[in-house]
Amino acid sequence: MIDALPDDGIPAEQILAELREMRAGDLPTHGGRLFAYVYDPALDGLDELAEAAHALSAHVNGLDPTAFPSLLAMENALVGAAARLLGGDRAVGSVTSGGTESILLAVKAARDARPDLSTPRIVVPSTAHAAFAKAAHYLRVALDVVPVGADLRADPPATAAAIREDTVLVAGSAPSYAHGVVDPIPELAALAAERNVRMHVDACFGGWVLPYLRRLGAGLPEFDLAVPGVTSISVDLHKYAYAPKGVSILMHRTEELRRPQYFAYAGWPGYTMVNPVVSSTRSGGPIAAALATLRAIGDNGYLALAARTRDAVATLAAAVANTEGVRLFAPPETTVVCLASAGVDLFVLADELAARGWHTQPQMAFGDLPPTIHLTVTAAVAATAGEFASALADAVAATRARGPIELPELDLTPEMATPELLARFEGMAAVNSMLNAASPELREALVTAFLSVLQRPE
Ligand SMILES: Cc1ncc(COP(=O)(O)O)c(C=O)c1O
Repeated sequence: MIDALPDDGIPAEQILAELREMRAGDLPTHGGRLFAYVYDPALDGLDELAEAAHALSAHVNGLDPTAFPSLLAMENALVGAAARLLGGDRAVGSVTSGGTESILLAVKAARDARPDLSTPRIVVPSTAHAAFAKAAHYLRVALDVVPVGADLRADPPATAAAIREDTVLVAGSAPSYAHGVVDPIPELAALAAERNVRMHVDACFGGWVLPYLRRLGAGLPEFDLAVPGVTSISVDLHKYAYAPKGVSILMHRTEELRRPQYFAYAGWPGYTMVNPVVSSTRSGGPIAAALATLRAIGDNGYLALAARTRDAVATLAAAVANTEGVRLFAPPETTVVCLASAGVDLFVLADELAARGWHTQPQMAFGDLPPTIHLTVTAAVAATAGEFASALADAVAATRARGPIELPELDLTPEMATPELLARFEGMAAVNSMLNAASPELREALVTAFLSVLQRPE
């Protein structure tokens, strides 16, 4: 147990040694073998630079840009770069803390632009990131989910049919997180514009790599502010711009579209507050680190990183296609390799891959879609991709030898989500199988109960 408030302060060296020891139990953030959560360009010296930049601005407060003009200048530089990359020469934007916040604010702006509606609605494809459901929940906006087509992409005619008088926003992904495929943004944007509805492109995941993949010749559709009808777009710098965590950008086509995103309040005795984003006080650290990262890598650097990522995706996808027992589930057209079972238990396979040092992300069955394994591929994987085929073949053989998970007969309730329940299962495969077998509602209740058990003070 760590005592966060010892009687007397502890020497710096000891504190850092303790932190290093704690960190040693985490999944490896670097090294090209973790396929979710982290984005690693494997560039020498970049971490040190970003850390130094972070330290320089960590105590600067984004609450008031007139007090700290350095931060305002950095934010404007970041938004300017994003606008040039994503076809929005005249766009305006804000720096947020992450993709979820950018999406939340895009939905808020759309909702608050229509104060005449009692229940504003948003229309999203079923593959849209969970952040849209969260935004709808937080903001009391109705969520209309449109099933994707057999190609896993948003379905324009079905989307058109879902738009109603009180729809304030249509969204599409570029690409979707689960499968890494790009929605038909020009079609979606055209039909939104026809009905005078805002159109948000969630490019949180791929926004900083798709333009480079397109420049390298990938046959990907247009997806950004250059597409008529797209009114806003989000792109996370802490994903494929390889900045440390805590930075995303939300851009709107015009200042007028952005206005309802802001919140100002003068009805209290303190300072008059005006916030473009959810947080009021916010650290300049992540923003300075992102700026340093962009300037260190540069446009040509990102192009080279995208080429390495593309090659790594091709190598991993070929490994999947050539391994009996698994199959590619989605076309590996961006930076995701998504595989499904062709005869093996996928949750056991994920455990067997992890035992061999390859950390993938299992995805549960959803509607008609089977469980899958997701791999987010970053440039660091270029160095390890060649070793994946043999690890996968080994892991598949071991999965076959172990056989599928047999779940105990349990009538699960959320109250049963305790460490004792987890202790009854061996490895994540059994836990994932249990969650997979549960309805989405029960799954939500189970993970909520379990998180609540985890988050107990020591
Ligand atoms: C497509 C997409 N949108 C939104 C998000 C949410 O981003 P964040 O985790 O930074 O809040 C993600 C995260 O993976 C994503 O892939």
